Amino acid sequence: MCGIVGYVGARDAADVLMDGLSRLEYRGYDSAGIAVFENGQVRVAKSKGRLADLEEKMKQEGKPAGHSGIGHTRWATHGEPSDRNSHPHAGGSVTIVHNGIIENYKKLKEFLLSKGKTFLSDTDTEVVAQLLGYYYELTPGNPVDAIIRTMKELEGSYALGVMFADFPDMVYALRKESPLIVGIGEGESFIASDVTAILQYTRNYYLLEPGEIAVLTKAEAKVYDIHYQKIEKELKTADWDVSAAEKGGYPHFMIKEIHEQPVSIKTTITPRITDGMPDLSECGITTESLNSFKAIHVVACGTAMHAGIVGKYVIEKLAKVPVNVDIASEFRYRDPLVGEGDLVIIISQSGETADSLAALRLAKSLGAKTLAIVNAKGSSIAREADMLIYTHAGPEIAVASTKAYMVQIAVMYLFAFELALAKGKIDEAECRRLTSLLEETPAQIEKILAHHEMTQKIADSLITADSLLYIGRGLDYALSMEGSLKLKEISYIHSESYAAGELKHGTISLITENMPVIAVATQTALFDKTISNIKEVKARGAKVILISRDDYTPDQDVADFQFCLPQFEDLLMPMLAVVPLQLIAYYTAVHKGTDVDKPRNLAKSVTVE
Ligand code: G6P
Repeated sequence: MCGIVGYVGARDAADVLMDGLSRLEYRGYDSAGIAVFENGQVRVAKSKGRLADLEEKMKQEGKPAGHSGIGHTRWATHGEPSDRNSHPHAGGSVTIVHNGIIENYKKLKEFLLSKGKTFLSDTDTEVVAQLLGYYYELTPGNPVDAIIRTMKELEGSYALGVMFADFPDMVYALRKESPLIVGIGEGESFIASDVTAILQYTRNYYLLEPGEIAVLTKAEAKVYDIHYQKIEKELKTADWDVSAAEKGGYPHFMIKEIHEQPVSIKTTITPRITDGMPDLSECGITTESLNSFKAIHVVACGTAMHAGIVGKYVIEKLAKVPVNVDIASEFRYRDPLVGEGDLVIIISQSGETADSLAALRLAKSLGAKTLAIVNAKGSSIAREADMLIYTHAGPEIAVASTKAYMVQIAVMYLFAFELALAKGKIDEAECRRLTSLLEETPAQIEKILAHHEMTQKIADSLITADSLLYIGRGLDYALSMEGSLKLKEISYIHSESYAAGELKHGTISLITENMPVIAVATQTALFDKTISNIKEVKARGAKVILISRDDYTPDQDVADFQFCLPQFEDLLMPMLAVVPLQLIAYYTAVHKGTDVDKPRNLAKSVTVE
């Protein structure tokens, strides 16, 4: 949560910082602020609310003018969203921006109060600024020394951008847990929480490791360890270009990302298919290792956890291996029965989700092997897992995840095919057939995207609803969990997903005249049973929206709306059926006028517990 940027160079720093922050706003948008060296003095502009509010404020009060500075977009943790609690924060001659949480801030604050320091905000960040300021006063003229002393005192997570008033045209950075990259341009240097913030200027960057300190001038960026020893860093090159992080003519990132799904699937699965067969050997997965696992656990949060549930159904069906799916924040505190011989799969778009990262570390400490399925290159989860499969969705900017989910399930399919083959539960011909069907999914999704008008009509019928239900059985149930989450997070309409057969054990009492029920019925073996459950809600007044295949023509008393999917392999239907569910959520939010890409109270990268 929270995005930070920093710049030293020849450009207008405020413009570079605001541009970078606009690409990091997905990380939080409770307030925004920048600090720029203006004629050798630090000048701060900050405001509660979105970046647009800060821009407005700067139009009226003037934009700090200079060529180096730091910036921040906030997801509030300590202290309400307000101008006062907005970053940057200052301590003496030090100004900072921070992403993370300082766990021992109370103890440090007491110490600083005892030294006569006073505080202007309720944030943990200001405590860091004051501590840096305090140590800098003890060793004036030596910023790195103050940073090292401060690092030794801090507990928790942080990525910090720092300016010392005595050193105009220099920016310092340090990190533990929270992500930070150092961008290297021609005569300019950057810091950012995520490489998308600097792609417009350079694709070359260093990944700052925990415990490292970066010192930026316009000529170069040097990196030191906590003993002030210089570290030679490997220069990396981002394989995304700036257009990947822009809307490209679409009104919102979410709809752009929905449309990118066919390409994302191709780029993710093609390198993992050799001669028509799944091949995850490059990720460290071999037949031998697959055969050695006693149990499989999937641990993740939010949408990524929903991808894990689809994976469970597919793996159990094909490979006959039990799979336990856990919410990361539960897994880490419930003494999970995990140990040597187990495989723990962590799924994460950002690779930085605090609970998922902690779950990974716990699984490793218990002796399990870990496999990360991650989208963000070089992220903490990617680096710490024993085995790694990158999804190649490109940058996902909309807070509501779509294409990342799609490629996560595509990888789960590949994994399930390879596992089933290794376990002897399917033969090579069946594995080849399923793999080629997986390769066909992008074309099937293209067909759905080309004829999705019905999803807009359905969305129109939902905007006045207070609450709705998603129902399905088997894979359709697994999938509808994601449909329900999409709708509630962006349209703010309450919804729940329910196993269709379980409704009559309580939840059916919620059905009243015209309550929308979105029923997903794509699984041949369960089809008649789901239709019976649909008739039960219809008979009690529900407005039924049916997502099924185009070979089914419902009786008049079954559905008010029907969205037809192409006929395809049952096992792979979730990859198709999720698309209308994403579109229904999207258009409902658009028709209601909510902020689709930045829904209230949410952030995309959740680096706090
Ligand atoms: C947040 C996001 C969700 C995401 C979840 C897990 O809640 O808003 O879209 O699914 O975090 O994030 P991860 O990066 O680990 O997939």
